[in-house]
Amino acid sequence: LQLLLLFAVSNLCSAVHHKDAPFLHKKFPPYFMWGTATASYQIEGAWNVSGKGESIWDKFSHAGVIHNQDTGDVACDSYNKYKEDVQLMKEMGVTHYRFSIAWTRIFPTGKADSYNAAGMQYYKDLVAELKNNSIIPMATLYHWDLPQQLEDVGGWLNDTVIEHYRDYADRVFSELGDDVKLWLTFNEPFVTCWLGYGIAVHAPGKYEKPGVDPYICAHNIIRSHAKAWHTYDDKYRESQRGKISITLDADWKEPKTNSSADRAAAERAEQFKLGWFAHPIYKNGDYPKVMKEFVAKKSKAQGLPVSRLPQFTEAEKCMIKGTYDFFGLNHYTTQYVADKEDSSYVSYDKDQDIDVTVDPNWASSGSSWLKVVPWGLRSLLNWIKYEYNNPDLYVTENGVSDKNGTLNDTFRINFYNGYINNVLKAIDDGCNVKGYTAWSLLDNFEWRQGYSEKFGLHYVDFDDPDRPRETKDSAKWFKKLINTNGWEE
Ligand code: NOJ
Repeated sequence: LQLLLLFAVSNLCSAVHHKDAPFLHKKFPPYFMWGTATASYQIEGAWNVSGKGESIWDKFSHAGVIHNQDTGDVACDSYNKYKEDVQLMKEMGVTHYRFSIAWTRIFPTGKADSYNAAGMQYYKDLVAELKNNSIIPMATLYHWDLPQQLEDVGGWLNDTVIEHYRDYADRVFSELGDDVKLWLTFNEPFVTCWLGYGIAVHAPGKYEKPGVDPYICAHNIIRSHAKAWHTYDDKYRESQRGKISITLDADWKEPKTNSSADRAAAERAEQFKLGWFAHPIYKNGDYPKVMKEFVAKKSKAQGLPVSRLPQFTEAEKCMIKGTYDFFGLNHYTTQYVADKEDSSYVSYDKDQDIDVTVDPNWASSGSSWLKVVPWGLRSLLNWIKYEYNNPDLYVTENGVSDKNGTLNDTFRINFYNGYINNVLKAIDDGCNVKGYTAWSLLDNFEWRQGYSEKFGLHYVDFDDPDRPRETKDSAKWFKKLINTNGWEE
């Protein structure tokens, strides 16, 4: 009987596993928003034009460390071609456009006294153009391009950055907030802190204390986020009536086996990555319990008197808790996680005692880290629903790369079909997903990989000084999807 029961239960589990659910032929709710996303450094170019200051990505790319020695000096030239970009979106029928603002255009040194009206004008013009074409702007204040002059004094590791970021946010709200109603304070702070200050593959490329610096960076970003949110809440919410949150990146972490150790490891990995930022903001103003325990344990084993994970004061916890109006989620891929004790060396990733693998059967893409696992998005959305009390959620990025930028990108259409259908299933599960944003409108500067990994719904010819755009099949497919608001029954 026991065996029979076991069989029945395991059957039940696999029968309800998200990966086996059939495709859903159905429409999205009528309020659902559809958009595309970009980021300033990845598309604008004009890196030293009209008073713009140098950012850490200008400096990093000029050092020749990017694939093929690429830089964002010209990128897609969207600084000059933004009207054309807006027409591409209009043709697709999107409801919103997620773009980011370059801090160095507004405050070239990073500080308020360097205000540059010409830089602000660029975003006023962009926002006006969107408005004239009935496209809702969704603006990210920080998509990785920190003013270099702030980096020179420690960047995200120096807590004086918090006040400068707050000043910058304040100025942007005051000048653009009548027309921008959806704000994101930070894009993927995990990447800023781990890739920028942990493994140094992103700007500023600091590799000094991978067991300390990423935690300090995150600590300062979380406090900066909270300050900006409160600035909006205190000074602008009543008159401007917008919404403001942060956008966090998360992979789905599937337990490698059904053992309780592996299930705990997968949960721990999610807490160390998404929970690192989401737990303070969406829960109690503090880091996840398991993260505090593990970093403290590892620090002790090293002989340190206190944990390498910084602590928020009680006043800071109060200030941070609840600083959101929705959940912004960037999602691309899934991994298997197993429990594995690790004491080899001291760094944020080793603090977690996990082993991360992928399934060789998952389709790959133009990016080594991106395996195609559509059902992972549904699992993640459900995890967020339970963990953070089902907040309104916007998928602020999702998409896939290839290396050749082909116009007949059936592969990308299949990716979107699978992932977006899983968003629909998650809505059926009760998740409050309000919108979906494809990454990206254009092929663009894919950070360390330069122009070699192409995520665009539109092709850009980077060999042509005019940077002409061409519509890929995926953009036409997406247009149809938006027009139908999903799939016909
Ligand atoms: C996340 C980042 O926000 C974006 O800048 C990047 O290009 C995409 N993922 C693809 O890697």
